[in-house]
Amino acid sequence: MPATLDALHADITTLAVDAIVNAAKPSLLGGGGVDGAIHRAAGPELLQACRLLDGCATGEAKLTPGFRLPARFVVHTVGPVWRGGLQGEAGLLASCYRRSLEVAAAAGARSIAFPAISTGVYGYPADAAAEVALAAVQQALPGLPGIERVRFCCFSAADLARYLALLARTPG
Ligand code: APR
Repeated sequence: MPATLDALHADITTLAVDAIVNAAKPSLLGGGGVDGAIHRAAGPELLQACRLLDGCATGEAKLTPGFRLPARFVVHTVGPVWRGGLQGEAGLLASCYRRSLEVAAAAGARSIAFPAISTGVYGYPADAAAEVALAAVQQALPGLPGIERVRFCCFSAADLARYLALLARTPG
């Protein structure tokens, strides 16, 4: 059965999926935005677990437990900082989505929720980021049959409208 893709307007820390994805910084030692919200909701054990991971390269992903979150796992990925679009940003952003799915699948996750990686502090234009996100997920899923559900968690109504429009254009 092909995986179900959907978009919803929510705070990602409230979602009862197997894995939520964190838009982290390379040190993995916490920050603002969705990173700060995830650390606050998961509790101080998350920072302790992150300290053991030795950071994360841009476009890569690393796994921790979810601690006090409803989600069993957090996949920490580091999106690219937007520098005008000619510095490999799209490839790195696609890699975040693909590697997050691979890491979650390897841990046995069947459902996963993504925030709009890089579109906050890191400045990636939201429309372009959403197109990269959806295309990367669709390309990765056939190789990851254990993933049954992918949710795009939108923090604003504008982001939700953007993802719903893209999903409506998507075959299957
Ligand atoms: N749930 C879902 N989405 C959220 C939440 C939340 N609780 N909080 C913020 N967002 C959304 C933002 O609205 C934005 O669309 O997540 C998206 C990504 O924004 P940022 O969190 O700023 O992430 P990013 O642009 O990837 O920048 C990463 O910011 O906080 C630091 O440590 C982090 O240095 C890293 C950088």
